[in-house]
Amino acid sequence: MPTRLFRLSLRFVLPLALVLGLFAYAVVPLVDNLTVRWFVRDLDTKSQALANALQEPLRDYVPEKAERRINQLFERALRDQRLYAIAFCDPAGTVLYKTSTYPQTLGCRLGLDNATGKDSLVNFPQGPLHVSDSRLESEGQHLGKLILVHDMSFIERRSADTRKYVLLLFALMALVISMITVFVAHLSWRDWIASVKSILRGEGDDESGGHAPRLSTSPEIRPLEGELRALLHELNVERQTRDDAAHLWTPEKLRTLLHEELSGDEVLVVSNREPYLHTKTRNGIEVQRPASGLITAVEPVMRACSGTWIAHGSGSADKETVDSNDRVAVPPSNPSYTLRRVWLTKEEEQGYYYGFANEGLWPLCHIAHVRPVFRSSDWEQYEAVNQRFADAVVREARTDDPVVLVQDYHFALLPRMVREQLPKATIITFWHIPWPNSESFGICPWREELLDGLLGSTILGFHTPFHCKNFLETVDRYLETRIEHESGTISFGGKLTQVEDYPISIAWPDGDANLPTVAECRSSVRAEHGMSHDHLLAVGVDRLDYTKGIIERFQAVERMLELHPNLVGRFSMIQIAAPTRSSLDEYQNFEARVKALVQRINNRFGNGNYLPIILKAEHHGSEQVTRYYRAAEVCLVTSLHDGMNLVAKEFIASRYDDRGVLVLSQFTGAARELPEALVVNPYHIEQSADALYRAVTMPEIEQCERMRSMRSLVKDFNIYRWAGRMLLDAARLRQRERVVTKIRSHSRKSLRRVV
Ligand code: G6P
Repeated sequence: MPTRLFRLSLRFVLPLALVLGLFAYAVVPLVDNLTVRWFVRDLDTKSQALANALQEPLRDYVPEKAERRINQLFERALRDQRLYAIAFCDPAGTVLYKTSTYPQTLGCRLGLDNATGKDSLVNFPQGPLHVSDSRLESEGQHLGKLILVHDMSFIERRSADTRKYVLLLFALMALVISMITVFVAHLSWRDWIASVKSILRGEGDDESGGHAPRLSTSPEIRPLEGELRALLHELNVERQTRDDAAHLWTPEKLRTLLHEELSGDEVLVVSNREPYLHTKTRNGIEVQRPASGLITAVEPVMRACSGTWIAHGSGSADKETVDSNDRVAVPPSNPSYTLRRVWLTKEEEQGYYYGFANEGLWPLCHIAHVRPVFRSSDWEQYEAVNQRFADAVVREARTDDPVVLVQDYHFALLPRMVREQLPKATIITFWHIPWPNSESFGICPWREELLDGLLGSTILGFHTPFHCKNFLETVDRYLETRIEHESGTISFGGKLTQVEDYPISIAWPDGDANLPTVAECRSSVRAEHGMSHDHLLAVGVDRLDYTKGIIERFQAVERMLELHPNLVGRFSMIQIAAPTRSSLDEYQNFEARVKALVQRINNRFGNGNYLPIILKAEHHGSEQVTRYYRAAEVCLVTSLHDGMNLVAKEFIASRYDDRGVLVLSQFTGAARELPEALVVNPYHIEQSADALYRAVTMPEIEQCERMRSMRSLVKDFNIYRWAGRMLLDAARLRQRERVVTKIRSHSRKSLRRVV
């Protein structure tokens, strides 16, 4: 260590001393020169004054040749310690009177010979002398010249002193500056190195489950810390994206990743909605796939990864189809994972699902101008049900460090609850709906509790960077945390949560060769509705939810027919609207308004068999939906606010013919990824009407270009990539956690040995 310090000091001191030495070398002559000039000027003035004083008596003494008096006068003058000698020369240049000190060799030439009459410096063996002369006249007669010689050796002495002090000053400065530099550099260098190392090692970055205390970084590096982390993060992401881009994400790739990166770790999914509902019908028990973007996305992932999916058993025949542990293997046709059902009482469902989740959080997070309602009784149920699901997760887990994928706003408290029971679990929470700005979120009376619950997650995912940003700002506003905005990490109570955007997607359809072709779908759907083969068709597929912009969409259809009456009778829109949350007033009112609007528009433009809007307010299976996607010229997605919207991506995936136009709301997450769609503001009815008209009249070549581009994006950025990216991140964090744990236990052991 001392050698290092010495080396370090030398590295700083030597160059600095050299620079200062050079500086002093240049400065000293300059200072010398300047001092001499000052003294010469000083002596000039002094000589002039003395000459003036001597001239007066000399005017009397010289004509009288009063040698004695003159000598006395000179001797008196010589008492000035700097005056070295005096002489008086006659006009012919002969020294008439002089003091004994007057140098022989000086004669009368020096000074007097000077054509300019200026004083001069002359070097003599005894040192430099300053010689000045002045002309003596009396009544116009030239009597001679008075020569005054001053001793200049004191200047040399002073110069030498000055030189000495200047050099000393510079040497001292060099020493002090280099010591300070070395000291500061040494301190910062040590801190910097330690901090950078810790960041590079990723310590304090996540700690997957967050058991490692955060390393405190030096204050100097703190401003850069975020950037360093962000850079590392970018590099990581870039590397992953490169890997991603090189291979198409498939179920196999996801499976391999699970085995290779997560060593086959157990995956548990928790969601409110279950992927398969068993319902009693007249024909016996039937299996239904619910209309839910979440299910569309996560189900293929579970098929690829196996594991257990924990969800609310809400089907009328669900209880009859589970085993004694409330488990059922799904998909029913080809079981590949376990569905574990959790039963809720009517009160629990009312308070937790209808009340807190769908009357409170759903309108809170969507800007659709429906006011959220918060009741304490709903909150209590929400808490209780979250705890029940968390307990189910713990019971289903076969290891103490499972990977738990928590889905959506129904389970904001569950991550913390699971973390408390399974501290080593990797909890990935995905928020499928938008996250509002902090002010809007602040409306919720239990905002702190919800945020605290979510921060039990290892990773918290949103569809877009914008939602991540909103979340970080909300946490910043309502909780005491440390946030690194650049890298999206939140440190809360010594634990870290990584906030990241993972745009969700769909499984790219490969096995739908047995589905009807585009031509078959076109003609069968038209035939079914009594339309001619060239009837123009738009389709909308949504849950009957006020966030979906269904009313605005119908208003756009109406406006287009007003503006383009030639389309009346030649254009229809089929709206598939799956009933949803129908026991809530808001949804009942909405359904009534939608139906009334459809009726009004149909009355206005319809005739005979012709209906401009065909509303199918019932559940449709995915194959039926694909049939409509393929039959239509246009798909309308006009959500007022939507996390992603997978209908847009499903439509694209179904159009293997590269035809069809997507009209897409700018307020969906999908609009960020699909600029080739006709992007509209659904609130602007004319704009949507224009886009719809443009879509139904778009030349095939343009349709083809747009559709091809969107298809290639959705194919590559599919649901396996979505899950893969999250699991890769989780694997990275788990790996780091394991290494940190090993290091800790190792250092504990070594410490015990020492003690
Ligand atoms: C949205 C939510 C999902 C939910 C779906 C259907 O997509 O993000 O969590 O499953 O709507 O709603 P439901 O209430 O019927 O499950």
